[in-house]
Formats: sequence, structure tokens, C-alpha cells
Amino acid sequence: MCGIVGYIGKSGSLQTLVDGLKRLEYRGYDSAGVVYQNGNGMELYKTKGKLKELQSILPNPVPVVKVGLGHTRWATHGIPSSINAHPHSIDGIAVVHNGIIENYRELKSCLIEEGHEFVSETDSEVVPQLISSYIRKGLSFREAIKAAIARLRGSYALGILSKSNPEMLFAVRKGSPLVVGLGEGDFYFASDIPAILPYTNRFIFMEDGHLCTLTEDGVEICNVDSGITIPVDQKTVEVDWVPAMAEKNGFDHFMLKEIHEQPHAIMDTIGELIENPRGLLENLGISTKTIIDLRKIQIVACGTSYHAAMIGRYIIENLAHIPVDIDIASEYRHRDPIVENGTLFISITQSGETADTLAAQRVAKEKGAWTLTICNVVGSTSTREAHSVLYTRAGPEIGVASTKAFTSQVADVCVLALALGLRRGRLSFREADTFKNLLLKIPGLVEKTLKNESKIKDMARSLIYSHGFLFLGRGLSYPVALEGALKLKEISYMHAEGYPAGEMKHGPIALIEEGLPVVVVVPVDELYEKTLSNIEEVKARGGKVIAVTDEPGCLHGKVDEIIEVPSTHSSLSPFLTVIPLQLLAYYVGVLRGCDVDQPRNLAKSVTVE
Ligand code: AGP
Repeated sequence: MCGIVGYIGKSGSLQTLVDGLKRLEYRGYDSAGVVYQNGNGMELYKTKGKLKELQSILPNPVPVVKVGLGHTRWATHGIPSSINAHPHSIDGIAVVHNGIIENYRELKSCLIEEGHEFVSETDSEVVPQLISSYIRKGLSFREAIKAAIARLRGSYALGILSKSNPEMLFAVRKGSPLVVGLGEGDFYFASDIPAILPYTNRFIFMEDGHLCTLTEDGVEICNVDSGITIPVDQKTVEVDWVPAMAEKNGFDHFMLKEIHEQPHAIMDTIGELIENPRGLLENLGISTKTIIDLRKIQIVACGTSYHAAMIGRYIIENLAHIPVDIDIASEYRHRDPIVENGTLFISITQSGETADTLAAQRVAKEKGAWTLTICNVVGSTSTREAHSVLYTRAGPEIGVASTKAFTSQVADVCVLALALGLRRGRLSFREADTFKNLLLKIPGLVEKTLKNESKIKDMARSLIYSHGFLFLGRGLSYPVALEGALKLKEISYMHAEGYPAGEMKHGPIALIEEGLPVVVVVPVDELYEKTLSNIEEVKARGGKVIAVTDEPGCLHGKVDEIIEVPSTHSSLSPFLTVIPLQLLAYYVGVLRGCDVDQPRNLAKSVTVE
């Protein structure tokens, strides 16, 4: 999952590309490169390491750039190295690529037989080589691009420029995200909106099979197969994000900023939806017949979004009494799922570009389900392919570890459950109003929960040398425990396991030894007493129990640390109990010197399988 950026125009500089890459670095950061034309020919710089390594080898002062490409890499084929970094260039054709060319070996051997010499281990290098081979056979630059991409299989977002055609730039999309930005006399494309947001908020979200030609005079998009030109003005979307949303604004890391943005993100997400939850389903384009015929809901997601799906199951079954199945997207898509009539399929995805989630959504749609996506990115693939879209309004989430998107997803699920419960007569208006008012209090309670920050930071100091963690919870606290374990794993690289507390005696209790940190999510609910028993079992074996609870009174003397959160309806406790776990992961990661915004081996959006 890499980040690509392209620019053509009259007023650009190399900084335009570098700043774009900086805002895409969360997508991949093991190597980076730029290529550009400045009126005196083509210059290319690339290196292993993060963007700052690239910046150290770039010309100073920053040169004017009339047309250029940039790339920040998350290696799929070929180790992170300068040779394998993008752009890849041959015969004056330079290409940056996000995705995987699945048939690159076959293409590479054909091209080598034609006399082409490869220098990298990457799949991406076949693209400029293929274009060059067609130009050598007499095709124009544009025709050579079309001939080359016709032979590619796999996923790709490509930026392509040619030394001999400095007046144009090409972008192609199939399976990997690509947005085109429309400035005033300057035109851009990038893997994600934040890269271009400082220059424009007018975007075109390219679709699979689209080829975009960019010149100083504007952009033209056509369907590669049919050759039909796509009317640009009909595809232009104004995005209501502002550049500051993609900046740290005084926080040390995006992750911490986004943890603190959660009260606003939740409020913005439920915003106007909560005024009339009963009308939500119609507003989502879900027909009355679909609602009447509704027999089952299937929720599918990955990672943190899957934990939101787990919470969604509890809340929707509780409020709407509809059976809900959940599944990990990479499992669902490959098991040839049975999709009965009357199934509402819900994908939960922050990016809207997660390859497995998209594939699962396509499988369900092909099998006849009505598909609804809960998504945070306007114009992303998931939102364009689903029948209905329920946006989270978290704003751009830059930190690789998802935080505000997670609580916003849970917020959307709560409103959806309300709507379903009302429409199916399982919730009275009074019950719905009560739940609505409790939900509207959540942003304020999250704000209050965040006041635990300094206590958690101090607590983190005593944990940074632990050789492992266990996170436990029952009911709605089980997915919260899983989420806390995932946050800690991905940010601090420490082993952490989330488990249903009721499973302890079925194996995990063997892990308990002197001093092992065990984080127990234990709000007062119908499972509170049972979880207290698990705490006793852990303490009896020397474990170090950190309890996250809204009822500390009963725990004093029984646990080692207590993190108190405000009380709320048991269905809404995850909004509050997850906050200390996010902060704990953040501070353990920071204190261990980890790069919490760009953790090793990870990327923000898993757009490849
Ligand atoms: C969460 O902290 C991770 N970055 C990851 O698990 C993420 O939630 C997962 O990749 C799903 O991404 P999506 O929501 O964009 O589909």
C-alpha cells in the first residue's frame, strides 16, 4: 500500500511533490522518490528510508516543477532499497505505482526476451518497460500506455510521465485508489485526498478502468476499454475537509490528535442522523420492501473495523432483534458464503479501499444482498460500489492506528440500530428517545474520559518492559479488549492478546505469571460479577491487573491499577472503555521510542490482499 502523487501546472515546485508525499507517508514509508521536469529535462531522485532521507538528497534551493511524480513505498515485491524505490524509469518513461501487478513475472520474461534490461526486483518496473516497448514499436506515448495497461493483471494506481512529452501527465486506476485534484491552472492526482487538500477541495474520484490525461490546460478522463470520455464536471466532488484536518495542530503525533478528536468525530457522525433515526433507512436508499423482507444482517470488516462490527452485532441485536452475523473480510470472501434472501450486508471500513473488504462486499452484492458501507472517505471505492453509504464524519484519519474512526463507526452502528429498531417496531419512541439522549451525552463523556491521560502516561512507564499483555472482557467489553490488544501490538510491537474473559479457564490462564500485565475491561453490567471472578483468578496467580471500570469502589484492594471511566448505558460503554486503551497503547509506544504514526511493517490502508 503505497502513496503516489502527481502534479502538472504553472506554479508548482518540487515542494508540491514532497509535501504531497509527506501527507501520504502513512500509507507506506520504507522508501521514497520523485521524478520531474523543470524545463531543462527530467530529474529523478529516490532512496531507501523515510521521506526525510529523500529530502536530504534533493536539490536545494527547491527547483520549479512543471510536471512531476512522487512515491512513498510499502514494499510488496523487492526489499526496501533505492533500486526498488519508485519512480521506475526506462527510456525517459517514468512510473510510480500503488498496487500489485500479478502477472509481472510473465511480462518480465517476455520483455527480457525482447532485450529489455531490468534493474529492480519489483513488479512495478514492468510498467515503464512495457510502455517503452510499445513506443519502440512506433506507438504514441498515450497509445503505448493504453496498450501496456491492457496487458496488466492485478491492481494498480499509476502515475506516468515521459521526458519527450513534458506537456502531459497520465494517471490510471484499477483496484487501487486515485483521486484527481482540480486547482486553478494546476492539476494533481494522489492516492488519497490529504495529499492535495492544501491546493484544492475539488476532486474527481477515478474509477477502475479510467485513464486521466493531465495538461496545464486541464484534465480529461476516459474509459480505457471503451475510449468513452467521462464528463469531468459531472464527476467533480467538493470535499468538506480543510487542510488543518490533515495536520498535527500542535500534537506530537496524529494518533494522539485523533484520540482527542473523538468527541467531535462522534458528534459530527451522529449529528443530523440522530434527529430523525426513523428516516435513516429511507435516506440511505433502503427500500421499504428491503426493510420488511429483512431477515438477517451480515457485517464484514478487517482489523479495528471488525471490532466495531463485533460491537455492532450486540447493539443491533439488542435494539432491533435482527440476527446479525459478523466475519473477517478475508475469510468471508473466500468461503463462498450463503447469502439468504432478506440479507442486509454491511461493510465497515475507514478507508473504503481495503482489498478484502471490497472483495467481500462484491461477493455479497453479486449474491443478491443489499449492500451498505459504513465508511469515512467520500468517493472511496466502497462508497461507490455499495448500494447505500452511511458515512462516519471523523475527518481524515492519518495515524495508522485507527482511533476516531473506530468510535465513529460504533456511533453509526448505534444510529443504524435505532433506525432498525424503530422501523421494525421493536423500539418504542420513548425507548428510542432515551437511547438517543444517552448517545448524545457520549461526546461529553469521552471528553471526560480523556482526562485520564496523565495517569495513563505514568502507568505506561511501568509497562514498557513487559514481555506480553493479556486484555480481557466479556460481552461488549470483549471486542474492546481485542481492540486494546491490537492498538498495543501495532503501536509498540509488544505481544498482546485479547480474550473473552470467560475463556480464561480454557487455556489462557496458563499464561498468567508473576507480574504479567492483564488489562480487564469491566464496566458495571450484567457480566460484572463474573468478570470480577476472572480478576480474582488472575490475581491469585500473580498477574498485574489493570481494571478499566465505571465502578472502582468494589475493585480497590483487588486490582493493581484502576482507570475510571464515566458510567453510561451498558450498550454504550465501549465508547468510554476503549479510550484508556488507546492512550495506553500510544504512551507505551512513545515511551518505547516507536514511530506511532508510521509503525513498522504497517500501512494505513491495506489496498492489496
Ligand atoms: C487499525 O488500527 C489498523 N490500522 C487496521 O486494523 C485497520 O483497522 C484495518 O486495516 C481496516 O482498515 P479499514 O477500516 O480502512 O478497512
